[in-house]
Amino acid sequence: MIHISDALSIDGQIQNLSIASHSDLSIDAEGLTLFPGLIDPHVHFRVPGMDYKEDWRSASKAAIYGGYTTVFDMPNTIPPTCTVALLQQKKELIDAQLHEAGIPLRYQLFLGADKTHLREIAHAKEFAVGIKVFMGSSTGGLMMDDDESLQAVFELAAAHQLVVAVHAEDEKRLRDRQQQFKNSRDYSDHSKIRDAETARIAVEKAITLARRTLARLYITHVSTAEELALIRQAKREGLSVYAETTPHHLFLSTKDYAALQGKAVVNPPLRSPDIAVWEAITEGVIDTIGSDHAPHTEAEKAKPYGTCPSGVPGIETTLPLLLTAYHQGMISLQRIVQLTSSRAQEIFHLAHTEDAVLVDLNKKMLVMPERLKTKCAWSPFAGRELQGWPVYTIVQGQCFPLF
Ligand code: DOR
Ligand code: ZN
Repeated sequence: MIHISDALSIDGQIQNLSIASHSDLSIDAEGLTLFPGLIDPHVHFRVPGMDYKEDWRSASKAAIYGGYTTVFDMPNTIPPTCTVALLQQKKELIDAQLHEAGIPLRYQLFLGADKTHLREIAHAKEFAVGIKVFMGSSTGGLMMDDDESLQAVFELAAAHQLVVAVHAEDEKRLRDRQQQFKNSRDYSDHSKIRDAETARIAVEKAITLARRTLARLYITHVSTAEELALIRQAKREGLSVYAETTPHHLFLSTKDYAALQGKAVVNPPLRSPDIAVWEAITEGVIDTIGSDHAPHTEAEKAKPYGTCPSGVPGIETTLPLLLTAYHQGMISLQRIVQLTSSRAQEIFHLAHTEDAVLVDLNKKMLVMPERLKTKCAWSPFAGRELQGWPVYTIVQGQCFPLF
């Protein structure tokens, strides 16, 4: 058993609790606040095929150091995870790497939607937490932009009770705008190419399909007021439409290109400063925060615009960023728990666990690249002083002291 004494609950009550474990351990948690194990519904842990960017030995450590005990991994690997056989192969690789790391991280996998493998959806329920559809091109070759295939995915997902998770950027508009900016060497043009309208068109299409098929729809990395207006309306209609946003869309903006250069390039892109997403968080229109942990090497991110890959790491800094926002009065601890754990559990029907994180709400620490566990070893938040860090993460009865 793990015995935790004198922890604070998020509403300030003193709490003692015991968690089933093979080892016997007592933690004096005086001054620490107890959170449920966090769930990150959106990570790219790069196995198979891109282990040089990240693997599950490094990524599971990064997750634990971030307070996460469950992650959902995306299918844009090499090869893309778009069949049940590939899901099973991926699972074997992951289990071996987690075993090597000695970290029993919980995980779920998304099946990648691919028009030549639509039949896989009927058999995916047991192996996948949902189906991921890239409506516009991003990292990797997965992409589905024809209406017929999209409709088929939504119908099959509805029939087999699978959530459809969409990367909502419209491929046609994206291509047109890439053409217009084709000689650009300016990283910040990324936000002009993949503009708000590019996201709006795709979200509108996805919601129309959800309305027509009654599929459950999870819209990843929502970053604009335009998307939020459509999502708010869909929720009012009673559709099962859920919205995720990311730490980089909450804590970075187009102003950060100047300092970060290629490290600010991500899909969907950083937006001009705007409070729309923060308002939607307070209002409850945003359901979850996914880190969209998408590591690339520093050398890759230093390439000129056009060849520099999109994506930023994030799983180690999401909770400290949110806790810092809590100290600034921007969000409550209750809301942080909903966004980083309980809503994902509800939406994706995950079983309750005893996983827990003990957090020192007052601990101040700089984000230091050399301290990060992600293999890519950089962060767009490097140098920020954040207040509120996980101190112990407990997953499947195993306790990891982090300091
Ligand atoms: O910026 C991004 N990076 N957006 C995505 O959709 C994919 C991700 C990646 O896998 O690198
Ligand atoms: Zn992603």
